[in-house]
Amino acid sequence: MNQLDFIRALPKAELHVHIEGTFEPELMFAIAQRNEVEIPYKSVEEVKQAYNFHNLQSFLDIYYAGANVLIHEQDFYDLAWAYFEKCAEDKVVHTEMFFDPQTHTDRGIAFSTVINGLQRACDDAKERFGISSHLIMCFLRHLSEEAAFETLEQALPYKDQIIGVGLDSSEVGHPPSKFERIFAKAREAGFLVVAHAGEEGPAEYVWEALDLLKVNRIDHGVRSEEDETLMARLIAEKMPLTVCPLSNLKLCVVDDMAKHNIRRLLQKGVHVTVNSDDPSYFGGYMNDNFIAITEALDLTKDELKQLAINSFEASFISDDEKQKWSEQIQAMA
Ligand code: HPA
Ligand code: ZN
Repeated sequence: MNQLDFIRALPKAELHVHIEGTFEPELMFAIAQRNEVEIPYKSVEEVKQAYNFHNLQSFLDIYYAGANVLIHEQDFYDLAWAYFEKCAEDKVVHTEMFFDPQTHTDRGIAFSTVINGLQRACDDAKERFGISSHLIMCFLRHLSEEAAFETLEQALPYKDQIIGVGLDSSEVGHPPSKFERIFAKAREAGFLVVAHAGEEGPAEYVWEALDLLKVNRIDHGVRSEEDETLMARLIAEKMPLTVCPLSNLKLCVVDDMAKHNIRRLLQKGVHVTVNSDDPSYFGGYMNDNFIAITEALDLTKDELKQLAINSFEASFISDDEKQKWSEQIQAMA
Protein backbone atom coordinates (compact mmCIF):
# COMPACT_ATOMS: atom_id res chain seq x y z
CA MET A 1 0.00 0.00 0.00
CA ASN A 2 1.41 3.45 -0.83
CA GLN A 3 1.55 6.24 1.78
CA LEU A 4 -1.62 7.90 0.49
CA ASP A 5 -3.75 4.77 0.73
CA PHE A 6 -2.17 4.02 4.09
CA ILE A 7 -3.23 7.44 5.42
CA ARG A 8 -6.76 6.91 4.11
CA ALA A 9 -6.99 3.49 5.78
CA LEU A 10 -5.66 4.65 9.17
CA PRO A 11 -8.32 5.10 11.86
CA LYS A 12 -7.83 8.50 13.49
CA ALA A 13 -9.14 10.65 16.31
CA GLU A 14 -9.40 14.40 15.81
CA LEU A 15 -8.75 16.40 18.98
CA HIS A 16 -8.44 19.95 17.70
CA VAL A 17 -11.18 21.19 15.41
CA HIS A 18 -13.33 24.29 15.89
CA ILE A 19 -16.79 23.47 14.58
CA GLU A 20 -17.22 27.09 13.46
CA GLY A 21 -13.99 26.62 11.49
CA THR A 22 -15.52 23.82 9.40
CA PHE A 23 -18.03 26.25 7.89
CA GLU A 24 -17.64 25.83 4.12
CA PRO A 25 -18.49 28.90 1.99
CA GLU A 26 -21.23 26.99 0.12
CA LEU A 27 -23.06 26.15 3.34
CA MET A 28 -22.43 29.67 4.70
CA PHE A 29 -24.14 31.10 1.62
CA ALA A 30 -27.07 28.69 1.85
CA ILE A 31 -27.69 29.41 5.54
CA ALA A 32 -27.25 33.18 5.06
CA GLN A 33 -29.90 33.06 2.36
CA ARG A 34 -32.46 31.04 4.29
CA ASN A 35 -31.95 33.22 7.40
CA GLU A 36 -31.98 36.39 5.30
CA VAL A 37 -28.69 37.54 6.82
CA GLU A 38 -26.42 39.82 4.80
CA ILE A 39 -22.82 38.72 4.31
CA PRO A 40 -20.18 40.99 2.82
CA TYR A 41 -19.52 38.69 -0.17
CA LYS A 42 -21.32 38.26 -3.51
CA SER A 43 -20.17 34.73 -4.26
CA VAL A 44 -18.45 31.64 -2.90
CA GLU A 45 -15.42 32.70 -4.95
CA GLU A 46 -15.34 36.07 -3.23
CA VAL A 47 -15.44 34.37 0.19
CA LYS A 48 -12.49 32.19 -0.74
CA GLN A 49 -10.54 35.20 -1.97
CA ALA A 50 -10.98 36.80 1.45
CA TYR A 51 -9.09 33.88 3.02
CA ASN A 52 -5.64 35.42 2.57
CA PHE A 53 -4.64 35.53 6.23
CA HIS A 54 -1.16 36.28 7.42
CA ASN A 55 -1.63 35.77 11.14
CA LEU A 56 -4.11 34.53 13.74
CA GLN A 57 -5.99 37.83 14.14
CA SER A 58 -6.59 38.36 10.42
CA PHE A 59 -8.12 34.87 10.33
CA LEU A 60 -10.22 35.37 13.46
CA ASP A 61 -11.83 38.56 12.08
CA ILE A 62 -13.22 36.62 9.11
CA TYR A 63 -14.02 33.52 11.14
CA TYR A 64 -16.23 35.45 13.59
CA ALA A 65 -17.96 37.29 10.73
CA GLY A 66 -18.84 33.96 9.06
CA ALA A 67 -20.35 32.57 12.26
CA ASN A 68 -22.88 35.44 12.32
CA VAL A 69 -25.20 33.64 9.92
CA LEU A 70 -25.78 30.78 12.41
CA ILE A 71 -29.08 31.45 14.15
CA HIS A 72 -31.30 28.40 14.47
CA GLU A 73 -30.71 24.98 16.00
CA GLN A 74 -30.87 23.47 12.51
CA ASP A 75 -28.00 25.74 11.39
CA PHE A 76 -25.73 24.31 14.08
CA TYR A 77 -26.89 20.82 13.18
CA ASP A 78 -26.13 21.37 9.47
CA LEU A 79 -22.70 22.80 10.31
CA ALA A 80 -21.73 19.81 12.45
CA TRP A 81 -23.31 17.29 10.09
CA ALA A 82 -21.23 18.56 7.16
CA TYR A 83 -18.11 18.07 9.31
CA PHE A 84 -19.13 14.51 10.24
CA GLU A 85 -19.46 13.69 6.54
CA LYS A 86 -15.82 14.76 6.12
CA CYS A 87 -14.85 12.63 9.13
CA ALA A 88 -16.51 9.61 7.53
CA GLU A 89 -14.52 10.20 4.29
CA ASP A 90 -11.25 10.62 6.20
CA LYS A 91 -11.67 7.66 8.56
CA VAL A 92 -11.86 9.94 11.59
CA VAL A 93 -13.68 7.53 13.90
CA HIS A 94 -13.68 9.75 16.97
CA THR A 95 -13.69 13.55 17.30
CA GLU A 96 -13.55 16.03 20.17
CA MET A 97 -15.00 19.24 18.76
CA PHE A 98 -14.52 22.74 20.08
CA PHE A 99 -17.37 25.19 20.01
CA ASP A 100 -17.31 28.88 20.97
CA PRO A 101 -20.59 29.65 22.78
CA GLN A 102 -19.72 33.33 23.32
CA THR A 103 -19.54 33.93 19.55
CA HIS A 104 -23.24 33.07 19.49
CA THR A 105 -24.62 34.08 22.89
CA ASP A 106 -23.14 37.58 22.42
CA ARG A 107 -25.42 37.89 19.35
CA GLY A 108 -28.49 36.87 21.33
CA ILE A 109 -28.50 33.18 20.35
CA ALA A 110 -29.44 30.93 23.28
CA PHE A 111 -26.81 28.53 24.63
CA SER A 112 -29.42 25.76 24.28
CA THR A 113 -29.86 26.48 20.53
CA VAL A 114 -26.14 25.94 19.96
CA ILE A 115 -25.68 22.83 22.06
CA ASN A 116 -28.91 21.14 21.01
CA GLY A 117 -28.05 21.47 17.32
CA LEU A 118 -24.51 20.16 17.83
CA GLN A 119 -25.62 17.31 20.11
CA ARG A 120 -28.24 16.10 17.64
CA ALA A 121 -25.59 15.92 14.91
CA CYS A 122 -23.28 14.00 17.29
CA ASP A 123 -26.06 11.50 18.02
CA ASP A 124 -26.86 11.05 14.33
CA ALA A 125 -23.15 10.63 13.44
CA LYS A 126 -22.88 7.81 15.97
CA GLU A 127 -25.91 6.09 14.53
CA ARG A 128 -25.24 6.68 10.83
CA PHE A 129 -21.42 6.47 10.64
CA GLY A 130 -20.43 4.88 13.96
CA ILE A 131 -18.36 7.99 14.73
CA SER A 132 -18.07 8.81 18.44
CA SER A 133 -17.64 12.38 19.62
CA HIS A 134 -17.28 14.74 22.57
CA LEU A 135 -17.93 18.47 22.80
CA ILE A 136 -15.41 20.89 24.32
CA MET A 137 -16.59 24.40 25.11
CA CYS A 138 -13.98 27.13 24.58
CA PHE A 139 -13.76 30.49 26.31
CA LEU A 140 -12.74 33.38 24.05
CA ARG A 141 -9.56 34.67 25.66
CA HIS A 142 -9.90 38.19 24.22
CA LEU A 143 -13.05 38.58 26.35
CA SER A 144 -13.08 39.14 30.12
CA GLU A 145 -12.81 36.69 32.99
CA GLU A 146 -16.26 37.84 34.05
CA ALA A 147 -17.74 36.89 30.66
CA ALA A 148 -16.09 33.47 30.96
CA PHE A 149 -17.69 32.96 34.40
CA GLU A 150 -21.12 33.76 32.90
CA THR A 151 -20.52 31.26 30.11
CA LEU A 152 -19.44 28.56 32.57
CA GLU A 153 -22.64 29.20 34.53
CA GLN A 154 -24.72 28.76 31.34
CA ALA A 155 -22.94 25.50 30.57
CA LEU A 156 -23.60 23.82 33.93
CA PRO A 157 -27.08 22.49 33.03
CA TYR A 158 -25.44 20.81 30.00
CA LYS A 159 -22.56 19.34 31.98
CA ASP A 160 -23.33 15.79 30.76
CA GLN A 161 -22.99 16.86 27.12
CA ILE A 162 -19.75 18.83 27.50
CA ILE A 163 -16.66 16.83 28.36
CA GLY A 164 -14.31 19.72 28.83
CA VAL A 165 -13.47 23.37 28.50
CA GLY A 166 -10.80 25.02 26.38
CA LEU A 167 -9.31 28.43 25.64
CA ASP A 168 -9.05 29.94 22.17
CA SER A 169 -9.03 33.18 20.12
CA SER A 170 -6.31 35.88 20.16
CA GLU A 171 -3.39 34.42 22.11
CA VAL A 172 -0.74 37.12 22.44
CA GLY A 173 -1.63 39.53 25.25
CA HIS A 174 -4.17 37.10 26.75
CA PRO A 175 -2.05 34.60 28.70
CA PRO A 176 -3.52 31.53 30.39
CA SER A 177 -3.03 33.23 33.79
CA LYS A 178 -5.98 35.51 32.94
CA PHE A 179 -8.23 32.43 33.24
CA GLU A 180 -6.67 30.65 36.22
CA ARG A 181 -9.77 31.07 38.41
CA ILE A 182 -12.18 30.03 35.65
CA PHE A 183 -10.26 26.85 34.99
CA ALA A 184 -10.12 26.02 38.70
CA LYS A 185 -13.89 26.34 38.87
CA ALA A 186 -14.37 24.30 35.70
CA ARG A 187 -12.15 21.50 37.03
CA GLU A 188 -14.03 21.57 40.31
CA ALA A 189 -17.29 21.18 38.38
CA GLY A 190 -15.84 18.04 36.76
CA PHE A 191 -14.80 19.33 33.32
CA LEU A 192 -11.57 18.15 31.72
CA VAL A 193 -9.43 21.09 30.58
CA VAL A 194 -7.36 21.99 27.52
CA ALA A 195 -5.98 25.31 26.26
CA HIS A 196 -4.45 26.80 23.14
CA ALA A 197 -0.88 27.80 24.04
CA GLY A 198 2.36 28.23 22.14
CA GLU A 199 0.73 28.79 18.73
CA GLU A 200 1.67 32.47 18.30
CA GLY A 201 2.34 32.98 21.99
CA PRO A 202 5.66 32.07 23.68
CA ALA A 203 6.69 28.88 25.48
CA GLU A 204 5.95 30.77 28.71
CA TYR A 205 2.23 30.46 27.92
CA VAL A 206 2.61 26.67 27.73
CA TRP A 207 4.16 26.69 31.22
CA GLU A 208 1.18 28.72 32.45
CA ALA A 209 -1.32 26.35 30.83
CA LEU A 210 0.38 23.42 32.62
CA ASP A 211 1.01 25.04 36.02
CA LEU A 212 -1.93 27.40 36.40
CA LEU A 213 -4.70 25.85 34.30
CA LYS A 214 -3.54 22.25 34.93
CA VAL A 215 -4.51 21.18 31.42
CA ASN A 216 -4.96 17.61 30.18
CA ARG A 217 -3.66 18.60 26.72
CA ILE A 218 -2.00 21.58 25.03
CA ASP A 219 -3.57 22.80 21.78
CA HIS A 220 -0.85 23.66 19.24
CA GLY A 221 2.17 24.03 21.58
CA VAL A 222 4.62 23.98 18.67
CA ARG A 223 6.63 26.87 20.15
CA SER A 224 7.46 24.64 23.16
CA GLU A 225 10.53 23.57 21.21
CA GLU A 226 12.12 26.95 21.99
CA ASP A 227 12.46 25.92 25.67
CA GLU A 228 14.48 22.79 26.45
CA THR A 229 13.30 22.50 30.04
CA LEU A 230 9.71 22.66 28.88
CA MET A 231 10.40 19.99 26.26
CA ALA A 232 11.80 17.68 28.94
CA ARG A 233 8.68 18.20 31.01
CA LEU A 234 6.26 17.54 28.11
CA ILE A 235 8.12 14.31 27.32
CA ALA A 236 8.28 13.17 30.95
CA GLU A 237 4.58 13.86 31.52
CA LYS A 238 3.51 12.46 28.15
CA MET A 239 1.61 15.70 27.69
CA PRO A 240 -0.25 15.66 24.36
CA LEU A 241 0.15 18.50 21.86
CA THR A 242 -2.68 18.78 19.32
CA VAL A 243 -0.68 20.03 16.35
CA CYS A 244 -2.38 21.54 13.26
CA PRO A 245 0.08 21.62 10.35
CA LEU A 246 -2.01 23.32 7.61
CA SER A 247 -3.20 25.90 10.14
CA ASN A 248 0.40 26.68 11.11
CA LEU A 249 1.30 27.15 7.45
CA LYS A 250 -1.72 29.32 6.62
CA LEU A 251 -1.25 31.57 9.68
CA CYS A 252 2.51 31.83 9.09
CA VAL A 253 3.51 30.08 12.32
CA VAL A 254 5.83 28.27 9.86
CA ASP A 255 6.72 29.62 6.42
CA ASP A 256 7.30 26.26 4.76
CA MET A 257 5.84 22.83 5.61
CA ALA A 258 9.31 21.32 5.13
CA LYS A 259 10.34 23.36 8.21
CA HIS A 260 7.44 22.17 10.39
CA ASN A 261 8.67 20.66 13.65
CA ILE A 262 6.05 17.91 14.07
CA ARG A 263 8.38 15.14 12.93
CA ARG A 264 11.21 16.39 15.10
CA LEU A 265 8.88 16.66 18.10
CA LEU A 266 7.70 13.08 17.47
CA GLN A 267 11.28 11.82 17.21
CA LYS A 268 12.22 13.58 20.45
CA GLY A 269 9.41 11.72 22.21
CA VAL A 270 6.75 14.44 22.49
CA HIS A 271 3.18 13.10 22.35
CA VAL A 272 2.13 14.95 19.18
CA THR A 273 -1.12 14.42 17.25
CA VAL A 274 -2.34 15.68 13.85
CA ASN A 275 -5.46 17.85 13.56
CA SER A 276 -7.22 20.24 11.18
CA ASP A 277 -8.11 23.22 13.47
CA ASP A 278 -10.31 25.24 11.04
CA PRO A 279 -10.33 23.06 7.93
CA SER A 280 -12.63 25.20 5.79
CA TYR A 281 -10.28 28.17 6.23
CA PHE A 282 -6.89 26.48 6.24
CA GLY A 283 -7.03 24.29 3.17
CA GLY A 284 -7.96 20.87 4.38
CA TYR A 285 -9.41 18.27 6.72
CA MET A 286 -7.64 15.51 8.64
CA ASN A 287 -6.24 13.53 5.70
CA ASP A 288 -5.10 16.69 3.92
CA ASN A 289 -3.04 17.48 7.03
CA PHE A 290 -1.55 13.98 7.14
CA ILE A 291 -0.76 14.12 3.43
CA ALA A 292 0.84 17.58 3.66
CA ILE A 293 3.28 16.55 6.41
CA THR A 294 3.97 13.16 4.87
CA GLU A 295 4.99 14.77 1.58
CA ALA A 296 6.95 17.64 3.13
CA LEU A 297 8.70 15.65 5.87
CA ASP A 298 8.91 12.20 4.30
CA LEU A 299 7.12 10.42 7.15
CA THR A 300 7.41 6.63 7.37
CA LYS A 301 4.45 4.30 7.88
CA ASP A 302 5.64 3.66 11.43
CA GLU A 303 5.57 7.38 12.12
CA LEU A 304 2.08 7.68 10.64
CA LYS A 305 0.95 4.80 12.84
CA GLN A 306 2.47 6.46 15.91
CA LEU A 307 0.67 9.74 15.15
CA ALA A 308 -2.65 7.91 14.80
CA ILE A 309 -2.10 5.88 17.99
CA ASN A 310 -1.18 9.10 19.80
CA SER A 311 -4.50 10.63 18.76
CA PHE A 312 -6.46 7.90 20.54
CA GLU A 313 -4.12 7.80 23.53
CA ALA A 314 -4.51 11.57 23.99
CA SER A 315 -8.29 11.49 23.59
CA PHE A 316 -10.94 11.37 26.30
CA ILE A 317 -12.27 7.89 25.37
CA SER A 318 -12.06 4.91 27.75
CA ASP A 319 -8.88 2.87 28.22
CA ASP A 320 -10.59 -0.12 26.58
CA GLU A 321 -11.39 1.95 23.49
CA LYS A 322 -7.84 3.31 23.40
CA GLN A 323 -6.45 -0.19 23.50
CA LYS A 324 -8.82 -1.43 20.80
CA TRP A 325 -7.79 1.30 18.34
CA SER A 326 -4.08 1.01 19.16
CA GLU A 327 -4.10 -2.72 18.50
CA GLN A 328 -5.97 -2.23 15.24
CA ILE A 329 -3.41 0.36 14.08
CA GLN A 330 -0.42 -1.70 15.25
CA ALA A 331 -1.64 -4.58 13.10
CA MET A 332 -1.62 -2.45 9.92
CA ALA A 333 1.18 -3.06 7.44
N1 HPA B 1 -6.21 29.62 17.42
C1 HPA B 1 -6.88 30.34 18.32
N2 HPA B 1 -8.18 30.50 18.28
C2 HPA B 1 -8.89 29.88 17.33
C3 HPA B 1 -8.25 29.14 16.37
C4 HPA B 1 -6.84 28.99 16.42
O1 HPA B 1 -6.18 28.34 15.58
N3 HPA B 1 -9.22 28.67 15.55
C5 HPA B 1 -10.40 29.12 16.01
N4 HPA B 1 -10.20 29.87 17.09
ZN1 ZN C 1 -7.47 25.98 17.34
